[in-house]
Amino acid sequence: MTYFKSAIPLLFDTIKEVIPTVINNNKSGLIRLSTSQSDIKIENLTCENLHNPLGIDEVKPRFSWQLVATHNNCYQIAYEINVKLDNKIIWASGKQLSEQSVMVRYPSTATPLESAKKYTWQVRVTDNTGFTSDWSEQAIFQMGLLHTTDWKAKWIIPGYVEDSIMRPSPMFRKEFVIAKKIVSATAFITAHGLYEARINGEKVGDAYLTPGWTSYNKRLQYQVYDVTNMIKKGANAFGVVLGSGWYRGHLTWKNYNNIYGKDIALLMQVQITYADGSNEIIVTNESWKSSTGAIRYSEIYDGEIIDSRLEKKGWDRPNYNDQDWAGTKEIDSTKENLIATQNELVEKHEEFNPIKIFTTPKGEQVIDFGQNLVGWTVLKVKGNTGDTVKLYHAEVLDKNGNFYTANLRAAKAQDEYILSGGTEIFEPHFTWHGFRYVKIEGIKGEIKSDDIKAVAIYSDMKQTGKFESSNLLVNQLQHNIQWGQKGNFIDVPTDCPQRDERLGWTGDAQVFCSTAAFNMDVHNFFTKWTKDIAADQTAKGCVPNVVPNVLGAVTRSSAGWGDACTVIPWDIYLAFGDTSILKNQYNSMKAYVEYMHNTSKNNLWNIGAHFGDWLYFQPENDKDGRGAITDKYLIAQCFYSHSVQLLINAAKVLGNTADVAYYNDLQEKVKAAFLQEYATPNGRLVSATQTAYVLALNFDMLPEPVRKEAAKRLADNIKSYENHLTTGFLGTPYLCSVLTNFGYNDLAGKLLLQDTYPSWLYPVKMGATTIWERWDGQKPDSTFQTAGMNSFNHYSYGAIGDWLYKKLVGIDTYEDGVGYKHSKIQPHPISEISHASASLDTYYGTLSCSWKIENGVISIDVTIPANTHATIFIPAKEATDISENGKSIFGIKEITIVGKENEYVILNSTSGSYHFSCKY
Ligand code: BGC
Repeated sequence: MTYFKSAIPLLFDTIKEVIPTVINNNKSGLIRLSTSQSDIKIENLTCENLHNPLGIDEVKPRFSWQLVATHNNCYQIAYEINVKLDNKIIWASGKQLSEQSVMVRYPSTATPLESAKKYTWQVRVTDNTGFTSDWSEQAIFQMGLLHTTDWKAKWIIPGYVEDSIMRPSPMFRKEFVIAKKIVSATAFITAHGLYEARINGEKVGDAYLTPGWTSYNKRLQYQVYDVTNMIKKGANAFGVVLGSGWYRGHLTWKNYNNIYGKDIALLMQVQITYADGSNEIIVTNESWKSSTGAIRYSEIYDGEIIDSRLEKKGWDRPNYNDQDWAGTKEIDSTKENLIATQNELVEKHEEFNPIKIFTTPKGEQVIDFGQNLVGWTVLKVKGNTGDTVKLYHAEVLDKNGNFYTANLRAAKAQDEYILSGGTEIFEPHFTWHGFRYVKIEGIKGEIKSDDIKAVAIYSDMKQTGKFESSNLLVNQLQHNIQWGQKGNFIDVPTDCPQRDERLGWTGDAQVFCSTAAFNMDVHNFFTKWTKDIAADQTAKGCVPNVVPNVLGAVTRSSAGWGDACTVIPWDIYLAFGDTSILKNQYNSMKAYVEYMHNTSKNNLWNIGAHFGDWLYFQPENDKDGRGAITDKYLIAQCFYSHSVQLLINAAKVLGNTADVAYYNDLQEKVKAAFLQEYATPNGRLVSATQTAYVLALNFDMLPEPVRKEAAKRLADNIKSYENHLTTGFLGTPYLCSVLTNFGYNDLAGKLLLQDTYPSWLYPVKMGATTIWERWDGQKPDSTFQTAGMNSFNHYSYGAIGDWLYKKLVGIDTYEDGVGYKHSKIQPHPISEISHASASLDTYYGTLSCSWKIENGVISIDVTIPANTHATIFIPAKEATDISENGKSIFGIKEITIVGKENEYVILNSTSGSYHFSCKY
């Protein structure tokens, strides 16, 4: 296909028209050249993809902004950025003739950015009419502590002897006096374990489970908070409480403890600048005091015990008597691994009131919140001192309507509150649960709906995507995908949020990444996590199954799991247009390919244990052989080739021509070995499963002439299961997309709308509010799959979301304009759906497409953000059949007719909103 290239000349031709005029008019640079009625505004300024970030350690940060225009065909031809420190310009980019409005880098030639300093920046742009916008509002960014020596604080641990069984949460406190007027105060905090910091009785920041989870020994994040308004003249107090968290808590079903260390510790410094220009730093050291209080026990899997009789009232405020507190001990722990926080922190989001409070047949008091969510409850309770209230968490009720927790395995998921008397409010601090139902014990009398609410927590990523259609079950599926994502994006992408697992399974994240990138801005989330992949990769390039790796020594990678290190950087590059992630992860991608290469024989990667097409359709008592088992080494060869291809793609983007040539050569050999070992000359595969054909077709493993026939085999296979899928984790993500690409879009539609097991809508019909780990987590007779592995909140099968956005509605990005600088709009309607729409907040603005079929006419509404362009595929026979806003498309200057392909007429368009319609 060559036609879409003409979208680029379309823009550049117009640029050429403008630039010479400008340059002739004013030799000093590009300034306003016309009195055109342009109305662009500059909004949404981000630095390192964050709004006004505090504490970044990227010394050449990247700036992005959006052009907001009400007219079509608007794009930027120049920008100008100023960065200021204390109101003095330290970098003025000058007018740069460039369309780039996303991730413009602070240059290495400019004044180096300094540790802890707060900068302001603004930008103005010139558009293609020659209009120069006003300067944007000022945005800020603050640097983190760039050198280990900037840390004046000492790591401290409690000075008392810890109860080694319950390990109650240590509390640290420090009082200090402020004598002068403060201009600014910034807190830098991290911990071994989890921390909650307070100043003068108030919580610092909105985040929970800080400092988040990374491969701690190599990378430990600290957070930066502006605490200027929390500190006052006179007496002040800091109070920080710690939890065991991922650092030393129970982790994995193997019940490991102390994975990163035995002692939890605090590191904190607060840098104060006074009005007279002087500075002061308050740091953790042996002058701090330590004790324990109400939090008697806290574990991620098991929950929290709070004894409010032991609460030390006022401990986080000044003038508290800490005479009986122990001191603290400084420990000589490294600061070399400290890094600034790159991703959005975990915060509280939606709140749910009970939809039902009832007694189960077993007599349990249960609250139904109506949504399987991840977080905890906030409980208001009145009782006598010593009364105990216990809250248990479950995702589902069993067949008889009783509270079901067997699928949590060893995770107790239980919060326990011991009352001090009177009315009290409880919520846990260092644990979270995956639940829809809460069983409550110890409440005297009736539980009132107003006394308990559930709060969802997840990494605070912006919701960027919306999908909706005329089919309510499909809309519920989208809801379930989004909630699967929310509940499992808790600082790292986890497999599940409820049982004794909750780990960063690489395969799960890999299959879901592109869907995730449609639903939320996962750019920084995955940028951070892929760095942990690289950190935990072995010297031989082997990628652990879980990252951060807490499962012990890594000796092999499983196909489809290890590939997270190639797939995710590439998906993020496409979705957000970020070349840096390819640059940063390139060595990791290459090392993984080399690992497979080095462990292959005659270019066949056929050794080691692999998870295979995990949880594929496998009926119980598979007497008739319907189980869809796919040869694991066939799968491994497909993923080997896929990763080699992604490495080649990355090498091309980065201009690494030697690697392109080398790996192209390897790719040929890998594919040839595949054909020899797993396919007949006619393209019949040794495993006659959907997954085998899906992977072979999706990764171009078969020669062109036999692909059509292979696609027919796939289609026939699906029909032989009466339009049911049989794929597991690895085949499912590409299934519908392969069908659509090979002309079986209607069959893809039938799979989407199938509502008997196995299918996406079967769980929806069973009342699911999240994606299930297994196609048949709960059977039609309401009994459950094996309790040993049956999560009701596992996002992997939610990977169909990619097809909903990309194919059904038809929003995609071209590789010649990644991050939706050049978008592809191509709806693929299916018979049973009369309307589907989606929108995506890209870095350029909101891109959307909505189609509707009514009375034999399809109408397609498209919005293309300013400073981008699109290639739009309209399902019409001829261009003359298409109208835009009631008029023929011929003669509309923002639209160029490019050609025809299959059932579509192809148009190029500039930014703007368009309303197309044609017979259908
Ligand atoms: C996890 C997965 C994971 C799998 C690997 C399971 O226990 O929950 O989703 O990918 O193990 O086999």
